[in-house]
Amino acid sequence: MISVKLPDLKEAKKRTKEKVEYSSVSLISSDKFIGKHYFLRTYGCQMNEHDSEEMKGILEHLGMIPTDDLLLADVIVLNTCAIRENAHDKVFGYLGRIKHLKKERPDVIVAIGGCMSQEPRIAEEIKSRHPYVNIVFGTHNIHELGKLLLDASVGNQDIEVSSIEGSVYEGITYQRDSSITAWVNIIYGCDKFCTYCIVPYTRGKERSRKLEEIIQEVNLLKQQGYQEVTLLGQNVNAYGKDFQDGTDFAMLLEAVAKTNIPRIRFVTSHPWDFTDEMIRIISLYSNVMPYIHLPVQSGSSRILKLMGRRYTKEEYLSLFWKMKERIPGVAITTDIIVGFPGETEEDFLETLDVVETCKFDGAYTFIFSPRVGTPAALMKDDTPKEEKERRLQRLNERVNFYSKQNNEKLVGKTVPVLILGVSEKDSSRVYGYTDTMKLVNVEAGHDTIGKIIDVLILDAKSFSLDGKEVISEKV
Ligand code: SAH
Ligand code: SF4
Ligand code: F3S
Repeated sequence: MISVKLPDLKEAKKRTKEKVEYSSVSLISSDKFIGKHYFLRTYGCQMNEHDSEEMKGILEHLGMIPTDDLLLADVIVLNTCAIRENAHDKVFGYLGRIKHLKKERPDVIVAIGGCMSQEPRIAEEIKSRHPYVNIVFGTHNIHELGKLLLDASVGNQDIEVSSIEGSVYEGITYQRDSSITAWVNIIYGCDKFCTYCIVPYTRGKERSRKLEEIIQEVNLLKQQGYQEVTLLGQNVNAYGKDFQDGTDFAMLLEAVAKTNIPRIRFVTSHPWDFTDEMIRIISLYSNVMPYIHLPVQSGSSRILKLMGRRYTKEEYLSLFWKMKERIPGVAITTDIIVGFPGETEEDFLETLDVVETCKFDGAYTFIFSPRVGTPAALMKDDTPKEEKERRLQRLNERVNFYSKQNNEKLVGKTVPVLILGVSEKDSSRVYGYTDTMKLVNVEAGHDTIGKIIDVLILDAKSFSLDGKEVISEKV
């Protein structure tokens, strides 16, 4: 019988008082893996994308070469997500394929990391039901991947899911996916404990990186020629609160703006912690992009209370309008959950009302997915699945309508676009993002990649724009 430990809200809440440990990590060297191939698949959010860059840093320091071909791989790493049930299902589905592969090539090392692994219940399940998995490592011990691989190569099965929630590691070497835009962690974990969410359990306590470390990283990226940094956190606005010395996100954002890196973005913002000073800094510096992802989750104050979001519909709307007034041309996107336990048609209409009022530039929409151990999973939920799906469809129809309408407003205008690469569908074009985070396919030469160019917008679709480079005539 295996013991199954579930996320425990009361237990987890005690941790807010624990002290944060700051330590530095270094890469482990060995010639055992030189020339071997690794296959890495990432599920989930930007945080996981960036964690994968840390994993790649470790694997490539060991001399390994990336491959997209599972059959070629000597080491397989899955960086998993636990946010909704379908995220779990995808990973367990993939494990089925890997099981077959392991039968033919038992020497392949399989490592499962990320948010699913950090849930003790899932780590136990993998250990007992998928014994061909060699390594299970959590979000808190990514830096140990090198050591775990060396252990596994001598036949040890390693389940290393450390539950230390108070650490901040510096000195991480990332193998970054882009040489133009870069992720920069500013705050780890989450202490908001929204009642539906697993993240506070899989990512641990809210803990900020030291301001000087962040600025040093941004300066280095700038020196290396990076055009854009995205400051990362589950709740970037909570930055600095744990220092209890008055440091906050506005101060950090201003310091990052002063590095003069061309573009600065940040995700995700929580309406609760968003101050007037943060809005002022965003509008003051031209290198802080006028784009805010501000999840509302629901338009019903009753449901927001059950979700533990700590703001009402009215408070959200007043923050939204303040941003629109004070930050010229700001684009705002959101996240919305439908079918939260007890959500009535009236509650849902309140959500639609927020969408009609805010006319968001875009929205990620989800059906509530109960996560074992979270308070919402125990709430009475009597809305049929089909009704939840209908609500999602009704919502998406409105969301897409406004997304297209906002895009259409740009037709005929000339906007700055940071070009990131060659368009996937048409190699004669390049693609990039406006300052407001809209995807544009551009008629321009490949030599524009990595540059911010002026683009005349010619056409708008729901999820992208078409345009052509405007070459200004010099007098
Ligand atoms: N830290 C961010 C979001 C993290 S998760 C924030 O607070 O806004 C990304 C999105 O997934 C959330 O905004 C929410 O809309 C959705 N989500 C989280 N848990 C969910 C669940 N149990 N069911 C459905 N959607 C969920
Ligand atoms: Fe989850 Fe975001 Fe709420 Fe934190 S703030 S619990 S990450 S939804
Ligand atoms: Fe998923 Fe973990 Fe991100 S649960 S959404 S990968 S923080």
